[in-house]
Amino acid sequence: MQINLFEPGDFLTIQEASHWASEYLKKKVSTANISYLINYGRIQKYRENGDTLVSKNELQEYYKSFNGRREVNYKSKLGDDLNWALSFDQYREAETTKHVHRLHPYKGKFIPQLVEYFLDDHSDDFKKEVYFKEGDIILDPFCGSGTALVQANELGMHAIGIDISYFNSFISNCKVDDYNIQEILQQSNLITLKLKKFLQQHCTLEFEEELLQELNIFNNKHFPSPEYKRKINNREIDEYKYGKEKEGLFLPIYKKLVKKYDIVLKQESTETFLDKWFLQHVRNEIDFVYAKIKRLRNSNTKEILKLILSRTIRSCRATTHSDLATLVEPISATYYCSKHGKICKPLFSILRWWETYTKDTVERLSEFNTLRTETKQICLTGDSRKIDLIEELKKVDKKFASLVKKKKMNGIFSSPPYVGLIDYHEQHAYAYDLFNFKRRDNLEIGPLFKGKGREARESYVEGVSQVLLNAKKYLVKDYNVFLVANDRSNLYPEIAEKAGMKIVNQFKRPVLNRTEKDKGAYSEIIFHLKEKNNG
Ligand SMILES: C[S@@+](CC[C@H](N)C(=O)[O-])C[C@H]1O[C@@H](n2cnc3c(N)ncnc32)[C@H](O)[C@@H]1O
Repeated sequence: MQINLFEPGDFLTIQEASHWASEYLKKKVSTANISYLINYGRIQKYRENGDTLVSKNELQEYYKSFNGRREVNYKSKLGDDLNWALSFDQYREAETTKHVHRLHPYKGKFIPQLVEYFLDDHSDDFKKEVYFKEGDIILDPFCGSGTALVQANELGMHAIGIDISYFNSFISNCKVDDYNIQEILQQSNLITLKLKKFLQQHCTLEFEEELLQELNIFNNKHFPSPEYKRKINNREIDEYKYGKEKEGLFLPIYKKLVKKYDIVLKQESTETFLDKWFLQHVRNEIDFVYAKIKRLRNSNTKEILKLILSRTIRSCRATTHSDLATLVEPISATYYCSKHGKICKPLFSILRWWETYTKDTVERLSEFNTLRTETKQICLTGDSRKIDLIEELKKVDKKFASLVKKKKMNGIFSSPPYVGLIDYHEQHAYAYDLFNFKRRDNLEIGPLFKGKGREARESYVEGVSQVLLNAKKYLVKDYNVFLVANDRSNLYPEIAEKAGMKIVNQFKRPVLNRTEKDKGAYSEIIFHLKEKNNG
């Protein structure tokens, strides 16, 4: 848009806008943040003499409408005891997903800064004591993707994780393992070369290239950015109707290309997850790369390449972008994507993601290497209600097992599953299928498939208290237990009682809205528990 009425001082370049907003909000606003606001149609883009400008007034209005008011709003709804420091809103996404924390997607992890807050040696108005010190041993009996293990390492503490889901222990151990980076680079490059050669047998890459060109032309015409998104925000367009109409309009172009390049879409069988959720060419490439990885000798390199492959295939499932987290139906054609506001396509080759994630993984592992301490972290696979921790640990690391037996663990930092929210095995069904990992869905505490009813809640209380009772055998007497929970049904007082513990403190933390649409103020509690009969 050209500026007609130019008010001096109102229009800013992206750089100036980032400075102005940082001053105004008293927190760092990067030029990327400003571009984000433009790209998502929150503020308009103006042009003058070839420069992109934004309006200061519009920016101010935007911030007044949401960000600045959030804290006041949250506190009025959830109480002034809300510990805003635990919102971690000063951290950018790159920091909350730093180094190995983003080696693989995992739904339901806590952010590393939350773990640091409780494990490190600072104190503040809310955290009045220091609970752990270097050299301590921390337990996370619901280890998930290993966030606590990684942070324990950074802080010079040993840690043991336990998870019932084999794939979760696998992610956790991959994160804390120490690698020969050169070897990972060498082996992954070799596999990439072989994959490229394999791809020459088909025309998938040429097909994708032409399809992308056609999509580009079509999307520029029918979904110009950022005007289209702004029109949707202002409700000038019925997105559903318009999107469907254009989806239909593109389909013949897509079908013509599929025919031209002889592309096989669906697989014949739909029996397994791998059969159902991947297009034929993608499936062939997955099997090809996995066969190469299986042949590697160094088991540690093999494991991390498996993790990269798993992350790759997760991004290549035949689903729409908006259904990535909760799969609905497999797709095999182009579709209107409400997330990106244009026509998108399924994936026909894993090559791009394989290359991207290989590079990303190497960078993340190298970054973590610069922070690592000489400490031990291991995640065991098992049911935390019953596991014989020392016996299981002995099987993988005898020395560590005898240290734990002698010294005992100093406490727990963990987030148990929430009642009836997530099926932890099912969210990585593709990996169980590919790697043939054993599933133990029935031993999950509080899975989605058991619901949130009375029976589910009772079995949850029983389950979490048994985990704590079992863990106590391995803890020092004056232990500190921290459990992050969304305790809407007020189950934790009973859990503590059953485990012979008392709740000595509760830290209420705001969980910030991920999107502007989701306006509900919401908090979770970090329960601090100690032995009931200990002073
Ligand atoms: C909320 S998640 C933990 C997430 C973790 N804090 C992170 O940052 O990745 C809960 C975990 O508990 C595990 N779990 C459920 N039942 C279990 C059981 N009986 N024994 C051990 N782990 C269990 C689930 O597999 C899941 O990974």
